[in-house]
Amino acid sequence: MSQPKRIAIFISGGGSNARVMIDRFQQHPEDGVEVVLLVSNRTGAGGLLMAAERGIPSLVVKRADWATGEELLAALSAYRVDLIVLAGFLWLIPGYLVQAYPNRIVNIHPALLPKYGGKGMYGRHVHEAVKNAGDLESGISIHYVNENYDEGSIIYQAAVRLDPEDSPEKIAERVLRLEHGNYWRIVRDLYDATSGSEVHRDL
Ligand code: GAR
Repeated sequence: MSQPKRIAIFISGGGSNARVMIDRFQQHPEDGVEVVLLVSNRTGAGGLLMAAERGIPSLVVKRADWATGEELLAALSAYRVDLIVLAGFLWLIPGYLVQAYPNRIVNIHPALLPKYGGKGMYGRHVHEAVKNAGDLESGISIHYVNENYDEGSIIYQAAVRLDPEDSPEKIAERVLRLEHGNYWRIVRDLYDATSGSEVHRDL
């Protein structure tokens, strides 16, 4: 088997997607993916403890470091990271990182992009917008990351039907279940050289 793909997961909060991925890849070495680093922009992020419990080293980036990228790029290089996986990470990815990891940064968005994307559209804000619009489906979008929020080319989308009476919390629950079932799988199957031009939609 070729060398495992070494990934860093970036989080800002609870890190349930990161947890699913870490557990999956630790229990299934045949997947050929190793989570080698967790990066958080918040010292209090719940995901930090979760990662520590699983023996995954972590790095907390501060605003000042983020601006230059010095410490972050050094850590990503020291851990020989091949792919960066954003999982509920809320800061905009700066140009130096996109340039250092071209087509090697992916994100998951909790809606069917291009709907409900862009600055300020994260977590419950997305699900409230879906509810307010009266949509009867939502879903997930996994995409490459460029320097604009939610605009990189789409790798994979999957939809989930909604009931008219679903609350934003219920929508969030349905969408998160879809994230947990798919994100690790798409990361496993992603080849470094893919351009992301092909769109898969599971409806
Ligand atoms: C996930 O639903 C993810 O799609 C969303 O944040 C949540 C993080 O949950 N990301 C965005 O909204 C990005 N715009 P988690 O910390 O439990 O994985």
